[in-house]
Parts: sequence; structure tokens; C-alpha cells
Amino acid sequence: MDSALFVDQLLKEVMDDQEEKKRQIRLEGLDEQAELPEFVIKHWLNFAVYYEKAATYFIADWLKTTKEPDAFVNFAHQIRDEANHYVWLRKYLQEYTDPDAFTPPKEWRYLMEEYYPGLDHLVERLAAHNIASESAALGFMEFALDRFPESIRNTVEKVAKDEHFHVSFGCTLLKKYCTTPELQERALKATREAMKLMRQAREVFVQI
Ligand SMILES: [Fe+2]
Ligand SMILES: [Fe+2]
Repeated sequence: MDSALFVDQLLKEVMDDQEEKKRQIRLEGLDEQAELPEFVIKHWLNFAVYYEKAATYFIADWLKTTKEPDAFVNFAHQIRDEANHYVWLRKYLQEYTDPDAFTPPKEWRYLMEEYYPGLDHLVERLAAHNIASESAALGFMEFALDRFPESIRNTVEKVAKDEHFHVSFGCTLLKKYCTTPELQERALKATREAMKLMRQAREVFVQI
């Protein structure tokens, strides 16, 4: 299949999955309009801070095995972004709790510390993380965004802008490099597995 068409179809599959999940993320028993209670903000920040730091680590590891110059420079840019996100969001978390006290659930640790770091091929990394996970992260960021305190909201909007860039260079590079049926099969398999693992991670997140 033409790689541009492949990426368009992959993106559509990922976005349809997001839509489905968006409907499920409503937190049971919370007033839909009121400002978020402190425990929800703290909970959200704990997960977001963990996600950003874990992403910084495994993308940094990926660099060692990234030979394509354009992917190398984009991943390097992404590492700086994720590190910034970690530092910015951690500052807010510190206002609520000890930012180092959080123990992530095993579903999140498996995804962020085993599954993504273990992806060997550039096309799997781009498809399963840059496209599937980062667009899901955007949904997660946008979750109840208008009900966050203003300072956090402004920062999250800045983070979301960077995440859009990570998805977009993921698409551009995947179109360039994912050109054979074997590679497309590999990218698709990794993406579907990532979506399954993210679904489990999201279920844990909403169980506050
Ligand atoms: Fe990020
Ligand atoms: Fe990102």
C-alpha cells in the first residue's frame, strides 16, 4: 500500500479509538460543570508527570538506535519537549503533594517502562508512540481542561501544542519510511497492541 494512504488509515483507526474512549472518560459521580476537586487535579498531575518523565527516558534510549538523520533530530527535539513538560507539570504537582511519592500502577509501568522502550524499529516507534500514544495523551490533556485552575490550564495548552508537533512529525516520517508491506504490518501490529495497553491504562486512571 502507498505509505501516505497507510498513514492516513492508521491515523483514522487511532482517532476512532480516541473518540470511543473520550466518551468513557467521564468521572462517575462528579459534577460535570463545577471546578475540579483538588484530589482530581492531584491525581491527573501525578499521571501526567509520570508519563512525561518516562517518555523522556525511553525516547532518549531510542536515539542510540536511530540511524535516520531526520528522525534523530526530531526525537532529540521531542526529548527536550518531554523533559520540559515533566519539569513544568511537576512544579504544579509540588503545590499539592510530594511529587516523588507517586507509585504508578503496573499497567502504566508496563506500557511506559517495558512496551515502548522495547520497540525496536523506527516505524513501530513512530506509529505506536508518536501517533497512537501522543494523540491519546492529547485527549488526556484535554480531559476537563476548561475546569483546571487557570495557571495549570495555560501550561497544559503549551504542552498540547508540543504534543501536536510530536504526532505530526510521526506522520511525516512514517510516510517516508514505512514503505513496504512488511514494515506496514509491523507498524500496525505495534499500534494495535499499544492501543490495547492504553485502554487498560486508562481504565486504571479513571478508578480514582
Ligand atoms: Fe509531553
Ligand atoms: Fe510528546
